[in-house]
This record gives sequence, structure tokens and C-alpha cells, in this order.
Amino acid sequence: MKNVCCSEFAPRKVWMKTFGCQMNYHDSERILYHLDKLNFTLVKSREEADLVIFNTCAIRELANNKFYSQLGEFKKIKLKRPDLIIGICGCVSQIEGAALIKKFKHLDFAFGTDCIDRLPEMICRIDGGERGFHINSWDQSENYSIETEITHNSPQAFVNITKGCNNYCSYCIVPYTRGREKSRSLVEVVDDVRNLVETRGIQEVTLLGQNVNSFGRENRETFPELLARLNEISGLSIIRYVTSHPRDMSDELIKVHGELEKLAGHLHLPVQSGSNSVLKRMNRGYTREYYLDLLFKLRRAKKDIVVSSDIIVGFPNETEAEFQDTMDLLEKAKFDFVFSFCFSPRKGTKAFQMKDTLSNETRSNRLQALQKKQLLIQGNIRKQLQGRTMRILVDGANRMDGVLKWKGRTECNRIVHFEPVGPNDNLRWHWIDVEILSSTALSAQGKLLFDHGLNKSK
Ligand code: SAH
Ligand code: SF4
Ligand code: F3S
Repeated sequence: MKNVCCSEFAPRKVWMKTFGCQMNYHDSERILYHLDKLNFTLVKSREEADLVIFNTCAIRELANNKFYSQLGEFKKIKLKRPDLIIGICGCVSQIEGAALIKKFKHLDFAFGTDCIDRLPEMICRIDGGERGFHINSWDQSENYSIETEITHNSPQAFVNITKGCNNYCSYCIVPYTRGREKSRSLVEVVDDVRNLVETRGIQEVTLLGQNVNSFGRENRETFPELLARLNEISGLSIIRYVTSHPRDMSDELIKVHGELEKLAGHLHLPVQSGSNSVLKRMNRGYTREYYLDLLFKLRRAKKDIVVSSDIIVGFPNETEAEFQDTMDLLEKAKFDFVFSFCFSPRKGTKAFQMKDTLSNETRSNRLQALQKKQLLIQGNIRKQLQGRTMRILVDGANRMDGVLKWKGRTECNRIVHFEPVGPNDNLRWHWIDVEILSSTALSAQGKLLFDHGLNKSK
């Protein structure tokens, strides 16, 4: 390898494609931060790019296939432009990086989920002429310590507080792609968030981890303590977190939902199934009764809390009766939103080895039935929003039926569209009070009542 000095980079362009969860999107921000320091600019069109990066997701077959088909398209592009550098990272790369490098000759480098901060070294190796290498080692340090790096100008930031997962749900690949669970120290997270608020104007943070509510276990710190400390940061308006495990939803955590005014009135609490026997085969560590009791306690602590969830249908050998238990739980839980998926066998997991008699047709019929039922339930819940006044942070605009409408989210995570008063107003990142005129199962239409302007706390 030639010796290359990292401070001598000419301007170059990068195109990135990110698949998967918020954690992967946040990793992409961190990648861009490093690339920015190496004089790369993010571009929207892949034709312009000198470097292409795929940040991959391994959670279900579908996510995998989307990535493979896009990677395939680059084979032809690379033939025309041999100087184009193609790299992959993320969860697929962590577990299959070496094999992919071997298989796809147009792939130049691959790196794993724990190696993002080694990107400058990798670009130096590329510039030194090296190709076809992969790095997927795990960070061996006992403590998880980082500083949040962002390149955007929005008032919303993701902040990693834990990484990895030790839960080994029998269907899930994440413990193999993200490694052992580790938490940052409470004090580091609080200082990090305060710094984001003071120096970057951040008003809303989303605390990220595969299992955030087990934060601090190895440091004898707790998640409710962290939330209480973040709640004291002046200038911060909204604290969100994702994702949490029902088993780690302690009484103390439920209590702070009713006490901390900055904690969002929305909670994503994946249930996965409403059947006790399926939950057991999934290794989830709780029953439907326990889960429904959690919802009861949460709603007692905070009356209007909005709860969303994840559900997998067609787990190996799921019987009709087991599926009906999930349908029944939907009625009882009254979720505001559900992300639902057909079970997808992932190599390396326990469920992959389970003998499975269910047909794909049964799986997709069950998924459709579940989604239909949930839409009816959430449509009924959201109809009741009509006439209410809600505050939203405007995050973008869309054209709907030819009319420009601004779009924002309430602190309880509901999307509201509204028409601007003046056609040239730029309302992005304004806090707005809207009256809800109507609401469907997925979004609401509102009328602008009051514009609090930029950078106003709620
Ligand atoms: N850590 C989070 C979930 C991360 S994965 C949690 O435990 O809640 C996001 C969702 O993908 C999961 O909640 C689950 O519903 C779904 N999922 C994970 N593995 C899957 C698989 N093999 N097949 C189908 N869906 C899966
Ligand atoms: Fe996967 Fe379960 Fe960990 Fe969530 S808690 S990441 S579903 S193993
Ligand atoms: Fe996918 Fe990895 Fe997230 S598998 S869902 S990108 S943790």
C-alpha cells in the first residue's frame, strides 16, 4: 500500500443508500461525518458519484434482496466507470462481508457495524490502490464510548445510547450483526445531549438502541435515571426513545412517563405475538397477560399515551388459534400503529432450524387480515382527534392533489398535513399549533392556528 496522507484529499462525491432501522440511518450520518472530513460531498444522483456506499440490513429476506438487486445494477455501471469505488457496510456486511467481497468482483471494500470510525483508514487504503478488502472485527473495549456526530441542520437528532443486543429472540439476526449489548455511561450521554442542544440547536432527541430500556445495566445505572437527567436540559423540548423491550419496562420507567414533561407521549413497544405459546418459542420472556398489564399501567400513568408495536405473523408452525390470539390482542391493546411482518427465516438463528409446516400463502393471508384489522382499529382511534388543537414541529412539505401542504409530527408521533397561509412561507422547523380537521388511519389534515416560529420550545 502506498503511503497516503489523509489531509490531502481532493473534493469527491459520495452516493449512499441506507436500508433498515433508525440505527442504520444514524450510522449513515456518522459515515457522512467522516466522509465530510475527507472532502466528500453527498450527492443525490448515483451517476455523479466517485464513491457509492450501501448501508445494509439483514433483518428480513426482503431487505436483503433489495440490496442485492441494487448491487447487481452497479456491475454494469462499474464496467463503464472502473474508477468508481463501491463499498458496503451495515448488518449484512458485518456477517457476510468477506463472502460478498469474494463473490462480487465489482465490490471494493466491506466493513462491519462496529468499524465505522475506521472509515478514514479505509479510504486511505483505497487511495493507496488497495481493493477487495473487508473489516468486520468487533470493538473489544469494555465500555461503549462515543460522541454524536451530525452533519445536518435539523433540530432533531438521533443519539445512540446502547449498542448490540443480548436477548437472542429466536427469529432475530441482530445479536449476530450488532454484537453484545453495551451502554454508554449516563454522564457521557447527558453531556453529549447538552452539547447538541447548546452548540447545534437540537430540540428533539431520539435515544437509540436495540433495547434502550435496559440501558446502564452493566454500569449500575438505569434508563429512568437517564431520562430524568435529560429532562433537566434547558432548550431541549422532546425526548423520544426506540426500541424498548416489554420485559425491561420497569415500574420506575412507567412512572416517569407520567412525570417527565419532555418525554414524548408516544412509546414503541414491540409485542411480536399475542399467543403465549408463540411468545415462548420466540424466546421473548413475557406473556400476553404481562404485556396487556404493562399497557394498562402505562395508560394509568399517562392517560393519553400513544403506543405502537411490531408484530410477526407466521412464526414457524403458528396455528390458526395462535394467530387468532394475536388478532384478539390487537383489539385489546388499541395500538396507534403497527409495523407487521411475515416471519422471515434468518440463517444462524434458532428459528431458522425449526421445522416449519406453514405455507407462504397462509403467512401472507394472515398478514393481510392483521393489517386490515389494525387499520380499522387505528382509524377509529384517530377519528377522535378531530377538533383537537395540537402542536407540531414542521419537518417538510409534499404536494397532495396538486396542492402544497406542509407536514409535521405531534410529540406523540402523529403526522399532520396543513396548507400554508401565504404560498411562499417557509415553515420548515417551525413549531405550529394546528386544529385537526379530519384524520384517517394514517395521517391527519389540519388548519394552521398559530406559528410559534423557529427554535421555540414547546
Ligand atoms: N430491537 C427491536 C427490534 C429490532 S428489529 C425490538 O426488539 O423490538 C425490528 C422488528 O423486525 C422486530 O421487532 C420484529 O418485529 C421484526 N423482525 C425481526 N426479525 C424478524 C424476522 N426474522 N422475520 C420477520 N420479522 C422480523
Ligand atoms: Fe432482535 Fe429481540 Fe434483540 Fe430486538 S430484542 S434486536 S427482536 S434479539
Ligand atoms: Fe436491520 Fe441491522 Fe437494523 S439488521 S433492522 S439494520 S440492526
